[in-house]
Amino acid sequence: MIRDSIEIEIIKNANQPNIANPNRSDTPFINILNDFFSNFDFKQKKIMDLGPGHYDFFNLIDNKNKKNLYAIDKDQAVIKLGKYRKYSVTEGNLKNIHLKQNNKKFDLLFCKFSINAYWFYDDLLNHEKYIDYLASMVNSDGSAWIAPWNGIPKIIDIKENQKKIMDTINKQICFFEKNKFKTLYPSAKEIKRYGLSGNIINSPIFIKNLL
Ligand SMILES: C[S@@+](CC[C@H](N)C(=O)[O-])C[C@H]1O[C@@H](n2cnc3c(N)ncnc32)[C@H](O)[C@@H]1O
Repeated sequence: MIRDSIEIEIIKNANQPNIANPNRSDTPFINILNDFFSNFDFKQKKIMDLGPGHYDFFNLIDNKNKKNLYAIDKDQAVIKLGKYRKYSVTEGNLKNIHLKQNNKKFDLLFCKFSINAYWFYDDLLNHEKYIDYLASMVNSDGSAWIAPWNGIPKIIDIKENQKKIMDTINKQICFFEKNKFKTLYPSAKEIKRYGLSGNIINSPIFIKNLL
């Protein structure tokens, strides 16, 4: 939720039209918190949100220590909004975070609709390393909630590449499960409830130590 006129000015320059819209609803985040985090104690926890958009997740949780709330995004407007709210925001391309390997670990890794299996369409080895790295960002007793946005880039011919397209998302599931994540397959109703609708190939939610 965008909270004041300064935030409206900041976020209107966002690259994605849905993020530039200051009236974007935070209801999906309220639903996610109710359904997955009702027993989760956010106080004193170090939390990372990959691709935070309007930072709705941070805005709704009970954690007053903003320095413990981390985010990575590449959009200058999103970065500016996070800094305005005094979160610990880093500029970065989520496609490459595994190459930097900064070894920071979190009590909770959250990511809604900001990573894509098709970034690694031609590079299975790198895909596996990427998901291994995401898993390594979570403390041994930490938790994770990750819902990728698995949309197909326009350069991939869908008709010609059906098998490879399916292989890519199946591998994403294998790599998360290898790292002890559980895969949830939300129903059509849940997809709507959690704000996971779109032009995407599948809608898995990968979770660890939740529920
Ligand atoms: C669809 S929005 C989702 C925002 C928020 N998580 C939500 O669900 O409302 C995707 C977010 O990820 C960021 N993002 C997309 N691709 C990225 C990339 N390659 N590197 C860094 N940030 C990226 C966007 O700037 C935006 O904040």
